[in-house]
Amino acid sequence: MGKKSYLRSVEWFGKNDKMGFVHRSWLRNQGHPDHMFRGKPVIGICNTWSDLTPCNGHLREFAEIVKRGVYEAGGFPLEFPVMSLGETIMKPTTMLFRNLASMDVEETIRANPLDGIVLLTGCDKTTPSTLMGAASVNLPTIVVPGGPMLNGKFRGKEIGSGTSTWQISEGLKAGTFTVADLTEAESCVSRSAGHCMTMGTASTMAAMVEALGLTLPGAAAIPAVDSRKKVMAHLSGNRIVEMVNENMKMSDILTREAFENSIMINSAVGGSTNLIIHLLALAGRIGVDLNLDDFDRLGSDMPLLLNLMPSGKYLMEDFYYAGGLPVIIDQLKDIIHSGAMTINGKSIGENCAGAPCYNYDVIATLEKPLKEKAGIAVLKGNLCENGAVIKPSATSGELLQHRGRAVVFENMEDYHARIDDPDLNIDENCIMVLKGVGPVGYPGMPEVGNMELPQKLIKKGITDMVRISDGRMSGTAYGTVVLHVSPESTVGGTLALVENGDMIDLDVKNRSLKLDVAEDILKKRRDSWIRTVPDADRGYVRMFMQHVEQADRGCDFDFLKGGSGSVVLRDSH
Ligand code: FES
Repeated sequence: MGKKSYLRSVEWFGKNDKMGFVHRSWLRNQGHPDHMFRGKPVIGICNTWSDLTPCNGHLREFAEIVKRGVYEAGGFPLEFPVMSLGETIMKPTTMLFRNLASMDVEETIRANPLDGIVLLTGCDKTTPSTLMGAASVNLPTIVVPGGPMLNGKFRGKEIGSGTSTWQISEGLKAGTFTVADLTEAESCVSRSAGHCMTMGTASTMAAMVEALGLTLPGAAAIPAVDSRKKVMAHLSGNRIVEMVNENMKMSDILTREAFENSIMINSAVGGSTNLIIHLLALAGRIGVDLNLDDFDRLGSDMPLLLNLMPSGKYLMEDFYYAGGLPVIIDQLKDIIHSGAMTINGKSIGENCAGAPCYNYDVIATLEKPLKEKAGIAVLKGNLCENGAVIKPSATSGELLQHRGRAVVFENMEDYHARIDDPDLNIDENCIMVLKGVGPVGYPGMPEVGNMELPQKLIKKGITDMVRISDGRMSGTAYGTVVLHVSPESTVGGTLALVENGDMIDLDVKNRSLKLDVAEDILKKRRDSWIRTVPDADRGYVRMFMQHVEQADRGCDFDFLKGGSGSVVLRDSH
């Protein structure tokens, strides 16, 4: 941490000249008294609230609560909106816009008289996008995760966001679920404010920020509608003012150790494969050297301690009542970097020491984990020269070593057109291969990697098959699904060369994914391959396609690596 803080807001508000007048006067139309402009830390509350982002629909109220905490601690809170990414609404995929939202956050923070930042997040991409943007400015920053919805309840049973959606959809195909059942289930699964309450990407992101040390301890699991979430927001408002006074910057927290902790803790909670892409991108912004192999090296041998869907049976509300993330962090204290600093000025080990577990069926012990090895495996081989990933804990376990005949879909439209064709030449031993869903190809790398199985096989009772693509998978999904194949097919990765009938060998134990086609044949195919997806004609999507990096590097733009800091030299008048 640096010396006693210099307030950058003084550059705006501290001058008794024309520009000081301009910066203060217009803001005073909001009714702020003069003393608010005289040396108080100015706290920006970065709000991802939007009616179009249902998981973040409660964050306007939260912003008011954070403000209370900021005022109480002697700061001056100013809330601002940023681009909000609603996972279930946006087309073609929110991932296309993560980097755009991060640019919005970065430039808004830098351009304004802010000394410290509170990020109000929730839905999947709202966490990484705001984190990435804030990291490139590197002010004191604290995250208030919006919290999960209450458990879904349907006809006396628990149902979880996303995970149940896939089950219901398969049930519709199999004829065990009606459209009336579907309609009834809709409101039963989403019955309160908050984000998906499975260990999907949003819960993974919340756990990620707590594991990184960017939240107050225990923040991730508190349900959105629990009053203790509001207490957390209030206390975060208090703490950010202290952080500014202590000059505790994001880079003081986001060390290599913090990233390693996040990888290990993500494995123990059975977190989403999406963590990989977002954590790599964040590391790139803050200047920490992290690569795909780190996820396998650090995470794949970790035990699964959390019994949450999709890897287990409970939901986030149960996780909170069982003690939340501090219980898991305390159990891992001899494995993780317990000395890593967090935003409250204590180490993560100190924060979580002795955290009691109230339900060992929800949070297992290190001695008796739910699974011995839970993390994400990174595969290498001629089908994925730069890597691909799989989450073994979300699979049936029976297909982790499998040789099968490729059934190829050239893109998503091809998949939709043919998957339920009764004449499709496919059986349960085949390997489904989907091309054209990578960062450049779709564009935006959507969550379509967990392709639904053909209707005729579902009706036979088949529940899992090997699926391979250059896309992503929802954190709420499951199956023997190989994702993030890099390089992607659209830029000429070997995935582009796979043809129907080729044999593919998946061997997760040996971290291998191979296309069993002779090199000379592959060379011929490569020589005649032509890219069929041109760059978009204009606008942001054109920029995205020309600058997005591949999945093994986090899909950030090549020109957004690192940060530009918080200094702005020129004025507007
Ligand atoms: Fe927003 Fe799942 S759709 S968190």
